[in-house]
Amino acid sequence: MRIHNLPDFVYFNHAQHVEVGQIECQTCHGPVEEMEIMYQYSPLTMGWCINCHRETNVKVESNEYYAKIHEELSKKYGVEKLTVAQMGGLECGKCHY
Ligand code: HEC
Ligand code: HEC
Ligand code: HEC
Repeated sequence: MRIHNLPDFVYFNHAQHVEVGQIECQTCHGPVEEMEIMYQYSPLTMGWCINCHRETNVKVESNEYYAKIHEELSKKYGVEKLTVAQMGGLECGKCHY
């Protein structure tokens, strides 16, 4: 039975978050290992996605692709660290086709 289900007009990719972003499943799904019956832990609203993108720094260590982007963008914004938002994570088209 499907519990987490975004509307069809939203695109969400697990690989981008779990593999590239290295976010733990529990960050979004809660303490699943303790759940007798699975429930929805996060609101899955647009604000939830956006807030995390505003707050989370992109992990650029040992990732050549990001090292280059990071250098360019951090110069542009004049910052040391780069959030997902500054990398483009607030652009409508990234989550909506
Ligand atoms: C950044 C937040 C985030 C992380 C991290 C994440 N998920 Fe998800 N997960 C979601 C969202 C959002 C959906 C709904 C996607 C959709 O409807 O298109 C979802 C859906 C699912 C579903 C289908 C769920 C259902 O209720 O039927 C499963 C299974 C799942 N995730 C497992 C995992 C596992 C396992 C991990 C860790 C390896 C993980 N997720 C990490 C956000 C996340
Ligand atoms: C817990 C934090 C968190 C939540 C919640 C989250 N994201 Fe993300 N998201 C990230 C991180 C971190 C990255 C950057 C991963 C990377 O490429 O290094 C990312 C990247 C993305 C990207 C790629 C952005 C780009 O410019 O390349 C998309 C699209 C995206 N997320 C969609 C979503 C959607 C849709 C939701 C809500 C359903 C969501 N995210 C919720 C942390 C989160
Ligand atoms: C990081 C991902 C993300 C980005 C960026 C994003 N959205 Fe969304 N948006 C969502 C999600 C997830 C939902 C579904 C929320 C829900 O079902 O409660 C949504 C829902 C919507 C809806 C439907 C609202 C409703 O009440 O049904 C509209 C309209 C919308 N977004 C417009 C935009 C516009 C315009 C932008 C750019 C300024 C944008 N979105 C950027 C993730 C995103």
